[in-house]
Amino acid sequence: MKRIVLFASGSGSNVENIINYFQDSTEVSVKCVLSNNKDANVFERCNRLNVNALYFNKYSFYQSDCVLEILKSFKPDLIVLAGFLWKIPGNLIQHFPNKIINIHPALLPKYGGKGMYGMHVHNSVKENNESETGITIHFVNENYDEGAIIKQVKVTIEVADTPQSIAEKVHQLEYEHFPKVIHKVVMGQ
Ligand code: GAR
Repeated sequence: MKRIVLFASGSGSNVENIINYFQDSTEVSVKCVLSNNKDANVFERCNRLNVNALYFNKYSFYQSDCVLEILKSFKPDLIVLAGFLWKIPGNLIQHFPNKIINIHPALLPKYGGKGMYGMHVHNSVKENNESETGITIHFVNENYDEGAIIKQVKVTIEVADTPQSIAEKVHQLEYEHFPKVIHKVVMGQ
């Protein structure tokens, strides 16, 4: 059984979708969800779904090996950032090379980098009158949104689309493709 650990910072709708996708899997098991936001709705979801969820603060993440030690204890085959907004520190990248992947709600390298997350991305896409947007699933390195791209999927933006409706379209793409990509990557396919 392959073991995965998820990171999330907010609502956690991707986390819930991923947990449901692997619920009856004989190949992949979600061991824990880690979050930097103690008020995040993802905790409620994990509680309802009977999945471990732990909170960590900035000190544990950036100035100690606390989060690293917790991660090591789960022996993850893959670490998945599913709506996680903090930059991953060097100790985690070095310890889990090519074992951390992220989903970004736009077509990188466009609309990536610090401060580009969630609705900020969709607002900018709308302001720039883009005709398409999408999702990017990529490996994580020490720079925001710059690791090797695993998969991108596009969606058309209509003139009538709002940042909110763009966000919904992007979320639908995430729900459809992210679990399948996680499955492939963790199985080494
Ligand atoms: C998702 O759209 C994800 O792509 C994005 O945050 C959202 C989380 O939604 N991630 C980033 O912006 C990372 N830079 P969720 O909490 O409902 O899964």
